[in-house]
Amino acid sequence: MQQLFTLSFKKNISLIEEATDNIVLQSPLITLNSPQITLHLKQLSPGLLSALKLLGTDGATEEHLCNLVLQTDGLPGLYKFYDYLQKFINLGLICHSVLLEGVTLLTRVPISPLDRFQLKNAAADKKYILSRFAYCRKDKDQMVVESPLSHAQIVLREGQGAALFHQLFAPQSCQELCAKVLGISPDTALMIFNLLWSSHLISELQDNGEIQEDANAALSQWEFHDLLFHSRSRTGRHANPVGRTYRFLEKVEPLPAVKPKPATETENIPLYQPDLEKLKAADYPFTLILEARKSLRHYHEQPITDKQLGEFLYRCARIRQVMPAGREEISSRPYVNAGANYELELYLIVNSCQNISAGFYYYCPQEHQLCRLSNLNNHVAALLEEARLSNREQCLPQVAILISARFQRITWAYESIAYSGLLKNVGALYQTMYLVATAMDLAPCAIGSGNSDLFAAATGLDYYAETSVGEFIIGSKPRDEMMVR
Ligand SMILES: Cc1cc2nc3c(=O)[nH]c(=O)nc-3n(C[C@H](O)[C@H](O)[C@H](O)COP(=O)(O)O)c2cc1C
Repeated sequence: MQQLFTLSFKKNISLIEEATDNIVLQSPLITLNSPQITLHLKQLSPGLLSALKLLGTDGATEEHLCNLVLQTDGLPGLYKFYDYLQKFINLGLICHSVLLEGVTLLTRVPISPLDRFQLKNAAADKKYILSRFAYCRKDKDQMVVESPLSHAQIVLREGQGAALFHQLFAPQSCQELCAKVLGISPDTALMIFNLLWSSHLISELQDNGEIQEDANAALSQWEFHDLLFHSRSRTGRHANPVGRTYRFLEKVEPLPAVKPKPATETENIPLYQPDLEKLKAADYPFTLILEARKSLRHYHEQPITDKQLGEFLYRCARIRQVMPAGREEISSRPYVNAGANYELELYLIVNSCQNISAGFYYYCPQEHQLCRLSNLNNHVAALLEEARLSNREQCLPQVAILISARFQRITWAYESIAYSGLLKNVGALYQTMYLVATAMDLAPCAIGSGNSDLFAAATGLDYYAETSVGEFIIGSKPRDEMMVR
């Protein structure tokens, strides 16, 4: 079949004519993730020059471009054009569009500098189905289909494009697709299959009825949301800005390093502060703590004390210092945190603790106090029950620590990696809590999931501003687990 894709440069590519036979091709400067491309294209023959200019405007079919170069420059010019074209494709600069009666139906746009588009030919007698990783969304002013498997996105320009994707939820051959989507010929359908198949957006139905994509054991174990999150929070298959880009600078005020204390009906509870100098001398040796660290999910019948809880929180999570950092404030705390933004906050469901009444508390890391938010009301009791069910031994925790994030502390400065960084910070806090609990002969255990909506209901906080991102349970250690020096 004759290939009738319309080729064009990506919209953000500029062609600057320096002389009559000299063009500078430039991509925009985005970030380190997508370094700026600058190509000085010199001594261009007239046909080549015209072809490049066409690629920089509405584009043209490969056939049209080749004829143009061949007729103007002859065969040597054509070889040179193919060289350039391949180079542009390998640099992710070229879009491929499918036109229907002169109107662009859809366009394949590379979104990663690592895109290496190579057309795969789909078979007219085979069926293809949408990849379970493909999704459609609004991207600025256009509708796009993307997938974490792909280094390109498909921009849907006409309604038939969307209709076509809709039909592909079930396996379709070219013929079947044409019968279902108005105005699409078998040739166009095959071209679209070629484009989508080459971009990992559709998969072939094999003769045994299995979907080709599912035959890959590693891929089949990925869930859609996990792979999308992974691919977009790592560099590689996208060109989005990554890291501290400060996209809200001058638009939104950054949150202060210290969360304002929530309003409470009762006096805050000052917590015990250990003498760190004494601890430095008296603690178990580091290697003993590291080697003895383990998850403990049941407790001594005497609950944890207020003094132990105070010491634990002080050693894990207090604020040591608040410092200015440009337009932001950062702080120093015992656990490591990306950028020292310290977006994490601790809320405690105290179920049984000596000298602290059962209830729901917020830990003030600067004053080292507990603010009582509520009793064990329905929401809080449900969160506690969830923690019990997640505990492999299903013991009711003496204290469940719910870790929330004030998201804007991290999203204000970071792009692409804000949420993944936040989860790494939760891991760092978990490990600090494990080690401190082990050093204090307490029973610690991290919890793998929790209900963030229930947390928002229990605290009255806006889910999008601050909600739970981790859970940790703690209590007094059973006697037979105590460390012996
Ligand atoms: C992120 C994370 C999530 C966890 N989730 C749970 C959980 O939901 N329930 C549980 O009983 N243990 C949970 N654990 C504890 C692990 O099961 C435990 O660390 C692992 O089995 C190794 O045992 P150890 O901690 O005793 O060395 C979790 C640990 C981590 C780090």
